[in-house]
Amino acid sequence: MTSAGTGNDPLPRRVVDALRCSVCGSPVELSGRTLRCANRHSFDLARQGYVNLLHARVSAGTADTAPMVAARSAFLESGAYQPLADEVARAASGATGLVIDAGAGPGYYLARVLDVCPSAAGLALDVSAVALRRAARAHARLGAVVWNLWEPWPVADGVASVVLDVFSPRNAAEFHRVLAPGGALVVAAPLPGHLAELGDLVLSVADRKEERLETTLGGRFARLSRTDVVHTAPFTARQVHDVVAMGPAGFHLDREDRRSRLETAEGRDVTLAVGVSVWQKLG
Ligand SMILES: C[S@@+](CC[C@H](N)C(=O)[O-])C[C@H]1O[C@@H](n2cnc3c(N)ncnc32)[C@H](O)[C@@H]1O
Ligand SMILES: [Zn+2]
Repeated sequence: MTSAGTGNDPLPRRVVDALRCSVCGSPVELSGRTLRCANRHSFDLARQGYVNLLHARVSAGTADTAPMVAARSAFLESGAYQPLADEVARAASGATGLVIDAGAGPGYYLARVLDVCPSAAGLALDVSAVALRRAARAHARLGAVVWNLWEPWPVADGVASVVLDVFSPRNAAEFHRVLAPGGALVVAAPLPGHLAELGDLVLSVADRKEERLETTLGGRFARLSRTDVVHTAPFTARQVHDVVAMGPAGFHLDREDRRSRLETAEGRDVTLAVGVSVWQKLG
């Protein structure tokens, strides 16, 4: 079990120290439930424990929606991706400083990492406030910040001992900037065959994803290892429904043809095929 936070705790100290004002780039302090910089920019913590540092609009469709987040949380809590969570935690184990999860969603993987790294603190970044309401409660040593990963991150240089990216957008320049020298980047990306039995009920995985990972990260990172997590197990009707609903294709779940195909997928063996790679920061 994950050690649960209360959701009312302020951000962990180490997370506050690593954050920078998203308006002017200065350090911030937490006073009460407000983050402030010396230039009087301030950001209130939401009642649910996360803080929103965004000040520019993000295009519609970028953030996971409430139904997607609810489906993702239910699916992950069912244990269907436990082998992946175990491998991500193993890859990040040994982290003693700050672990930043880029596109953390409900914080499932970051909480598993913090469970095995008792002296680490975690920063969950995601553009979905709905997802971060859950992340903020996922672990006592986790702070959650709403941010668009494609903008320069409101995070100081070289503060992270590990950056995680599990199925989320990859901003290689920011991964590199926020990692400390010797820091590790842990990336989980789907392999060909991932969820293949579900066909086009889920978005198909591009065969060349792994090649694209090399292209995206290659100049700034050297790959140290890759472990393929491949696991086939029968999915319950609920798991089939949730794994479809947590992705963008889930929008069309109410269509009659898809509903009947969902029903026939119940109890079918489904393959999880994900590469977990560890990258060392260059330069
Ligand atoms: C496929 S989900 C993965 C979530 C989590 N890592 C997991 O595996 O449970 C992708 C996540 O990236 C977030 N996201 C998408 N675009 C983003 C952006 N530009 N900035 C920040 N987060 C983004 C979504 O809101 C969503 O939570
Ligand atoms: Zn400021």
